[in-house]
Amino acid sequence: MNVSGKVALVTGGGRGIGRGISLVLAGNGADVAVADLDLTNAEAVAQEVTAAGRQSMAVSVDVRDQASVETMVQQVLERFGRVDVLVNNAGVIGAAGWEDRERPSEEDWDFIFDVNVKGIARVTDAVAPHMKERRYGKIVNIASIAGRTGSERNTPYNVSKAGVISLTQGQALEMAPYSINVNAICPGLLWTPMWGRILSRGAMTPNPEGKTQRELFEERVQSSIPLGREQTPEDIGNLVAFLASDYSKNITGQAINVSGGSHMN
Ligand SMILES: NC(=O)c1ccc[n+]([C@@H]2O[C@H](COP(=O)([O-])OP(=O)(O)OC[C@H]3O[C@@H](n4cnc5c(N)ncnc54)[C@H](O)[C@@H]3O)[C@@H](O)[C@H]2O)c1
Repeated sequence: MNVSGKVALVTGGGRGIGRGISLVLAGNGADVAVADLDLTNAEAVAQEVTAAGRQSMAVSVDVRDQASVETMVQQVLERFGRVDVLVNNAGVIGAAGWEDRERPSEEDWDFIFDVNVKGIARVTDAVAPHMKERRYGKIVNIASIAGRTGSERNTPYNVSKAGVISLTQGQALEMAPYSINVNAICPGLLWTPMWGRILSRGAMTPNPEGKTQRELFEERVQSSIPLGREQTPEDIGNLVAFLASDYSKNITGQAINVSGGSHMN
């Protein structure tokens, strides 16, 4: 999975899966621009990339904001001169207060779509012209196994992730003439702050025995994942590195599950 000397831009790179992706790419030889809404977290991950021997920079971005996205891309191009690998990882599960709502609100729908779907479109549209000019690029969108099935309680998130899979297919067709590969990854269950929010949906998460969030998460893993183990940010990073390498040059428009067999489509 050699990505030596490639320049990668990872959105939502400041923690969780995005941090794991950034570190695996660095471990495989890439320089990494770590972009996040939370600049302090992005700076911490950028330092880890530097400590691993690669060049890095932290960039502040809100993928909901066109001007912020354009500034991010400009800053990365000024520093590194190009983007070889774009990882659209930034994503959200609900708007503020979502944990306390029985059903998702209008605000949840708008917020989730603005980040998870339109955010990917915005960032890709800002990076793609530079890739097209060089007739080279690897784009990886982070979808979810949630995009493979329906949801009783958080429909907007699942619909947004199905949207990411469809968006990936459209982008792959658009970029194919420029030799740019666009793929999606559908992660399964990963113990990140996002799962803390899911499990703190008090009334929606029956917990008569007062189990810890970690115990509830492990129960979910055991009941839904044939391989019987959770996935890690490094697992996702390993597939990103493969999709960013030339080993995958004939793979495009695909959505690949990294979920221990929970979904097989
Ligand atoms: N954790 C899981 O089990 C799981 C499973 C499947 C898919 N995913 C997806 O993986 C991705 C990462 O999830 P995670 O679990 O690491 O979540 P997380 O909440 O731990 O991290 C998300 C990161 O994205 C950043 N972010 C959020 N909104 C942003 C915005 N508007 N602009 C820029 N950055 C923004 C956050 O600051 C944070 O650093 C998401 O797209 C998520 O939907 C997660």
